[in-house]
Amino acid sequence: MSHSGKHIAAIRKDYQLAVLDEQVAGDNPFSFFHKWFDDAHKADAEEVNAMTLATVNAAGKPHARIVLLKGLDEKGFVFFTNYNSEKGRDISENPHVSLVFFWKELERQVCIEGMAEKVSEAESDEYFMSRPAGSRLGAWSSPQSTIIADRSILEENYTRYASQYGDDIPRPQHWGGYRVIPTTIEFWQGRSSRMHDRIQFTRSSNGNWLKNRLAP
Ligand SMILES: Cc1cc2nc3c(=O)[nH]c(=O)nc-3n(C[C@H](O)[C@H](O)[C@H](O)COP(=O)(O)O)c2cc1C
Repeated sequence: MSHSGKHIAAIRKDYQLAVLDEQVAGDNPFSFFHKWFDDAHKADAEEVNAMTLATVNAAGKPHARIVLLKGLDEKGFVFFTNYNSEKGRDISENPHVSLVFFWKELERQVCIEGMAEKVSEAESDEYFMSRPAGSRLGAWSSPQSTIIADRSILEENYTRYASQYGDDIPRPQHWGGYRVIPTTIEFWQGRSSRMHDRIQFTRSSNGNWLKNRLAP
C-alpha cells in the first residue's frame, strides 16, 4: 500500500454515532467522565484507560506519550511512573500537563488540562504492591528514559533484583503516582460534516464548574 501524502490525505471518516448537548453533559464533569468511561468500557474500547500525557519542560519544550489511568477520584486523574523519567523531570520543572483520551469506537475524545502533583507514599505503595511481581521488578530494572547500551542491561538488572528481593519486592522511592488536578475538561463527540459537539467545563476560582460549548 502506498503511503504518499495524497493517499494519507484521502483517508477520512464521517462521524455519525451520537450527539452531545449541554443537558446530557450535566453539571459535573467527573460524573460525566465516569459515564463516558463506562460507555467506552462496555463498547470494548481497546486499552480504554490509555491516555496521552503531554508535559512541557522549563524551556517550553513539549513532550507527549501514553500512560495508563489507574485511579480517578473527586480530586483528579491518577497515573504511575518513574519519577526520574523525562515526564517526571518535566513535571518537577512545570506541573502544568494535559491528558487526552481517544475512544474511537464511540467517536469520542476527552481533553483535560491541569496540574500534576505526586500522590501520597501510601497511595503509591498500595498500587505498587497490587502489581504482578514481574512489573514490580521491571520498575527496579529500568532507569526509565535514560540511554542504555543494549537490552542486556535490562535483563541483567532484572535477574539481579529478582535474586536480591525474592518474593518481597518493595516500591522503589523513584517510582510512584501523580494526580492530575483538572482545571478544564472538554468532551468531544464526532458529528457529521465536521460539525462536532464540544462541551468544555472550566473550574472557576470558587471551585464551581462553568460549562461552555466550543466551536468544532
Ligand atoms: C499503552 C501504553 C501504556 C503505557 N503506560 C505507561 C504508564 O502507565 N506509565 C509509564 O511510565 N509509562 C507507560 N507507557 C510508556 C510511556 O509511553 C513512555 O514510553 C515511558 O513512560 C517513558 O516516557 P518519558 O521518557 O516521556 O518519561 C505506556 C505506553 C503505552 C503504549
